[in-house]
Amino acid sequence: MKPMVDLKKQYAEIKDEILVTLNGILESSQYILGKNVHKLEDNIKDYHGVMEAVGVASGTDALRLSLVAMGIGGGNEVITTSFSFFAIAEAIVHAGAKPVFIDIEPDTYNIDPTLIEEKITERTKAILPVHMFGHPADMEGIINIAKRYNLRIVEDCAHSFGASLNGQKVGSFGDAGCFSFYPSKNLGAYGDGGMVILKETQVADNVRKLRNHGSRGGYSHECLGHNSRLDEIQAGILLVKLKRINEYNEKRHERAHLYTKLLSDIVTCPSEKEGSYHVYHQYTIRSDKRDVIQQKLREHGISSTVYYPSPLHLQEALRFMGHSEGDFSVAEQASKEVLSLPIYPELDEEDIYLTSEIIRKA
Ligand SMILES: Cc1ncc(COP(=O)(O)O)c(C=O)c1O
Repeated sequence: MKPMVDLKKQYAEIKDEILVTLNGILESSQYILGKNVHKLEDNIKDYHGVMEAVGVASGTDALRLSLVAMGIGGGNEVITTSFSFFAIAEAIVHAGAKPVFIDIEPDTYNIDPTLIEEKITERTKAILPVHMFGHPADMEGIINIAKRYNLRIVEDCAHSFGASLNGQKVGSFGDAGCFSFYPSKNLGAYGDGGMVILKETQVADNVRKLRNHGSRGGYSHECLGHNSRLDEIQAGILLVKLKRINEYNEKRHERAHLYTKLLSDIVTCPSEKEGSYHVYHQYTIRSDKRDVIQQKLREHGISSTVYYPSPLHLQEALRFMGHSEGDFSVAEQASKEVLSLPIYPELDEEDIYLTSEIIRKA
């Protein structure tokens, strides 16, 4: 099967540099919170033009620790999208708060800011937008509401390293920007990893303590924390890839535009709102013939994936929240129609032509 992402191709291109980096770390034998983690934090801070960056063990922990670091927990509510990966609900619930879902925009799959206000109560403390598939959420609409109601904004940038809105990088709009370095992400490590970028030093210090057993170092513990440090080896690998991230994103962009050119008359292709730089972590089409298209692609040995087959409010694990079918109809309809196609910087043009041809004939 032709994969969704071929990480072997990318490794072949950067192998020499990766091996030198790994060798340096193994020779130094410094594996935890060493110079690679600190350098990566500095470089990611500079890349986004923010004051603080803290490496953590995963994107899920980036979200969870950010919420806790802002004092969001017991009895608080966090307004978020009903259409995303399950980790956002886990992070909110594990922080001790309650996710309050809202519906999405049908074209970008992002949280619909016009629906936020009606869900605000005195318990609401934050809005958690996800920049879905790499397209920036409507930050202007979200920031306006957050300012009016004095709410925190925690951006989930797991799909969107390098995406921007009117020239400003996502993650730098809110109080915290949370990244995942899961291997298939557009900036991916060779294992799990995550990062939080922040504006406030106090909140960043809290995340630093929370990732390291509540300690600033040594054996003095100021709060109950976690073991959630970004690994030194992963940080070294990410430093090699970070140098190339703009080129990688640009190549995804070009490939996405070719798909759109070949497919836009027969399926709904991803939209790019004015001022948005979409980094196409996923290239997601939409069609009422979705299952037929996926079956045809499978028969021709081409992978495709449904992100996500069920919106969050209908997940078994969240049944206790009392939602039912029909609560968020735009998200529910999207779950029935979306299909993500292979996309990665090294994807050959011929593969895009082939995949598009099969979809046209489905
Ligand atoms: C939107 C979104 N948020 C958060 C996460 C969690 O990231 P991680 O797997 O690094 O914990 C993911 C992972 O796929 C994701 O897609």
